[in-house]
Amino acid sequence: MITIYTEEEISYIRASAKLVANTLNFIETQVKPGVSTLFLDKIAEDFIRSNNAIPAFLGYGGSRNPYPATLCISINEEVVHGIPGARYLKDGDIVGIDCGTILNGFYGDHAKTFFVGSVSESNKKLVEKTKESLDIGISMAIDGNHVNDIGAAIQSFIESNGYSVVRDLVGHGVGKKLHEDPPVPNYGKKGVGPVLREGMVLAIEPMINMGTWRVKVLRDGWTIVTADKKNSAHFEHTVLVRKDKAEILSQA
Ligand code: MF3
Ligand code: CO
Repeated sequence: MITIYTEEEISYIRASAKLVANTLNFIETQVKPGVSTLFLDKIAEDFIRSNNAIPAFLGYGGSRNPYPATLCISINEEVVHGIPGARYLKDGDIVGIDCGTILNGFYGDHAKTFFVGSVSESNKKLVEKTKESLDIGISMAIDGNHVNDIGAAIQSFIESNGYSVVRDLVGHGVGKKLHEDPPVPNYGKKGVGPVLREGMVLAIEPMINMGTWRVKVLRDGWTIVTADKKNSAHFEHTVLVRKDKAEILSQA
């Protein structure tokens, strides 16, 4: 079942998503060579808690192997869900940082890929095209379109640029929970999937690889890496479906 949120509920989701955007803007100022991913995680958690919110990813996934951190920090060939730790950013890395918050019971979810120092032209282009593909996907999130119109637009743009779309992970509804219906794939056929209606809230999150779309999971049970070790980029926004133009909720 896909929830249609009321304007009041939407204002709560907007506040949570805005806090995630503010958190990522703050973290961005600390992204530089030599900084540990654990440090970034610590200051993100402090920032979120000092804004009366809770990190949404911390403890996610139940008792078997709960996600242990506030941020997902995924470097180079890591696609998503990289666990912060004693690893240091270095010049030339691209680093995807994903963050979620719970504020007044409502979730926001947002990710960006940053440059560490000066990165190669090919990495720059991968990141820029991934960002552009998210914008294209968002432009499809309007009343009357089908869910898969989003992925179809992302996939055709990405593949025409010579990159590939990860299949194993998808976007999702978001609001009262982190992951709600519907799944929002970043690939697929136009005209397929549930019809979008004003008031639905989606986390659209293309994961784009330089080489093969195939991925695997590391032994930690979380970190997703590309099967060919080539680099990957990730952007995500919490987006509200509207009649004529989607509203990006995860902005400062
Ligand atoms: N944005 C990601 C997602 O929607 C991050 C989840 S990390 C997790 O799946 F730990 F919460 F799973
Ligand atoms: Co998400």
